[in-house]
Amino acid sequence: MKDMIEQYRVTAEPYYRPVTNEVEMFEAAYAAKMPVMLKGPTGCGKTRFVEHMAWKLGKPLVTVACNEDMTASDIVGRFLLDADGTRWQDGPLTFAARHGAICYLDEIVEARQDTTVVIHPLTDNRRVLPLEKKGELLRAHEDFHLVISYNPGYQSLMKDLKQSTKQRFGALDFNYPEHGVEVEIVAHESGIDPKDADKLVSIAERARNLKGHGLDEGISTRMLIHAASLMAQGIPAVAACQMALVRPITDDPDMRDALDAAVTTYF
Ligand SMILES: Nc1ncnc2c1ncn2[C@@H]1O[C@H](COP(=O)(O)OP(=O)(O)OP(=O)(O)O)[C@@H](O)[C@H]1O
Ligand SMILES: [Mg+2]
Repeated sequence: MKDMIEQYRVTAEPYYRPVTNEVEMFEAAYAAKMPVMLKGPTGCGKTRFVEHMAWKLGKPLVTVACNEDMTASDIVGRFLLDADGTRWQDGPLTFAARHGAICYLDEIVEARQDTTVVIHPLTDNRRVLPLEKKGELLRAHEDFHLVISYNPGYQSLMKDLKQSTKQRFGALDFNYPEHGVEVEIVAHESGIDPKDADKLVSIAERARNLKGHGLDEGISTRMLIHAASLMAQGIPAVAACQMALVRPITDDPDMRDALDAAVTTYF
């Protein structure tokens, strides 16, 4: 088991450019054993931040991509049949709680509420996880920490976290970084000239203003890095932007024209 947990250790520093005080806030929350919720749109750095913090704190990171078919057993664990009979296998949450990892439940709202409530006893001062089927009351390891991500605005009323879940967490807001910081990130991740990264960020800023006016979501930092990476491969800027920035987010011909026009303003 010791070897298993080692596989989850983040050995090389994941590049993360702090945007405000999120690094200090997370460190304080970790020290205070306060579970953390990262809120923000897709592609703005939440996952990268958790990877960076796991590295910084020197803790293994267990990530779970939540979905609506996920059952409590999928995260807590179950008995498996093998040649010698049945054998208990810890699910990712139990594994993290037992061995002192940071457990990151990505897109928690996708999980059904009866699945979400299993984290409740772990996220209050009890810090325990009852493994009912196994007849074990697991006390979380000293180093265990729970982080969830949450995309406000995506979910319908049906898909929201219960107040009793939300109120167990401290929350950090994530958003697209301010201009200069985003230029730095895009240039760093792709290797393109900061002057070109600057233009890409300006295009995204225009598109972000169209959110709610025909666009469901703005162009994310992730998409800018995609475009920049194509440019780094030698693809001309306009073609790179069409493929990585415009085509993925809209099928509407007028909106495509508007976004293409924004691209040609800069390139
Ligand atoms: N502050 C930052 N420092 C370094 N890289 C960043 C930062 N913000 C965003 N990035 C880059 O943007 C990419 C997308 O970010 P990430 O995968 O963390 O998004 P996310 O918020 O987890 O999105 P989703 O909600 O879709 O999972 C990262 O791979 C990274 O290259
Ligand atoms: Mg993510």
